Amino acid sequence: MFVALEHLIRLEEGYRRVFQIDRRHYLLIVVENQPILLENSCPHQGASLHNATLDGRVLRCARHGMAFDLHRGVALDSNCPPLRLLPLAYDGDRVGLDL
Ligand code: FES
Repeated sequence: MFVALEHLIRLEEGYRRVFQIDRRHYLLIVVENQPILLENSCPHQGASLHNATLDGRVLRCARHGMAFDLHRGVALDSNCPPLRLLPLAYDGDRVGLDL
């Protein structure tokens, strides 16, 4: 089942928005002109990532400062588990996810 999240035309560099679907929270973010969808929960201790800082493709959690490569999901300076990235789905002029 396709669940639409956003119109494609709104996905500009710097876009960042949190969605809740079935009690799960997702973060849709555009980095280097690429939309990326991930669970809005830091793999370290579960902090929301909506206010994480961005430096290029590096996402740094605001709670304890762990850094992750947004394209690959991996932690950069710790042995923390990776971000939970989800594949995006497209339908017409919208982007979303398949559940
Ligand atoms: S909860 Fe994100 S770095 Fe600790």
